[in-house]
Amino acid sequence: MSAEHTDENILVAVDGAVATVTLNRPKVLNALNRALMTDLVAALTDLDGDAAVRCIVVTGSERAFAAGADINEMAGARAADMLARNNLAAWDAVRRLHTPIIAAVSGFALGGGCELAMACDMIVASETARFGQPEINIGVIPGAGGTQRLTHALGKARAMELVLTGAQIDAHEALARGLVNRVAPVELYLQEAQKLAAAIAAQAPVAVRLAKDAVLKAHDLSIEEGLDYERRNFYILFATEDQKEGMAAFIAKRKPVWTGQ
Ligand code: CAA
Repeated sequence: MSAEHTDENILVAVDGAVATVTLNRPKVLNALNRALMTDLVAALTDLDGDAAVRCIVVTGSERAFAAGADINEMAGARAADMLARNNLAAWDAVRRLHTPIIAAVSGFALGGGCELAMACDMIVASETARFGQPEINIGVIPGAGGTQRLTHALGKARAMELVLTGAQIDAHEALARGLVNRVAPVELYLQEAQKLAAAIAAQAPVAVRLAKDAVLKAHDLSIEEGLDYERRNFYILFATEDQKEGMAAFIAKRKPVWTGQ
């Protein structure tokens, strides 16, 4: 079963338990303007609230995942305008999603595009993918997580170099440094991302949710707090039917049937 809904800036397709959201401003390399971000956040929030959707893939075009925030939209703004609009606050919605989200990236993932990919839980890249934070070339700095998430992913030295020079890295370096999960030929990267999404979607839903929640805490908490947090999530799962089913199925040497309860 597949359902489709389209509007101007994004396309949403649901196939079984996997939703694919496609950024759809190809003429401007999916530059992330306010309208697109509003539609994206609304679509992701809706999908996150749909129990039938167990994993989300966000993608762009072959040429560009997204070449950053829309420069035309902000070129004339003053600091007071930027503060008052606070457009980037909308991006917080992405990191609050409970449903696992995979970025399928081909071509340019620059500036806000790189930041959007990094705000997702995993990245599947095509061989043509290029990642970078080129804001310094236009007199600013990353504003949607680049200085933080790129540094977590690449380490301080390489992240500092990219942020200060605007240089880009290719898919193979991104893979070697752990920024992306895997690299696939350009004709296959989206399928690869959807396959990974389907594998996650087939797991016990409450366990997936609490696992994602605990992994994300690894960057926010001390190791001691993180271990306590993880342990609580582990114990909570013993209140689910899926824990009973998963362990009974293992003992009976059969496949588990998850109910999400
Ligand atoms: N905003 C608005 N329009 C953009 C855009 C952006 N970020 N990136 C590309 N476009 C537009 C171009 O203006 C061009 O439009 P026209 O055809 O109307 O001229 C079209 O997309 C195609 O782009 P190019 O002709 O430039 O294509 P190219 O292959 O020669 O170059 C590129 C590709 C290297 C990605 C180049 O487009 C580029 O450098 N883009 C800007 C990248 C950038 O600086 N991103 C950071 C933005 S700031 C930000 O993201 C802040 C934040 O942290 C939230």
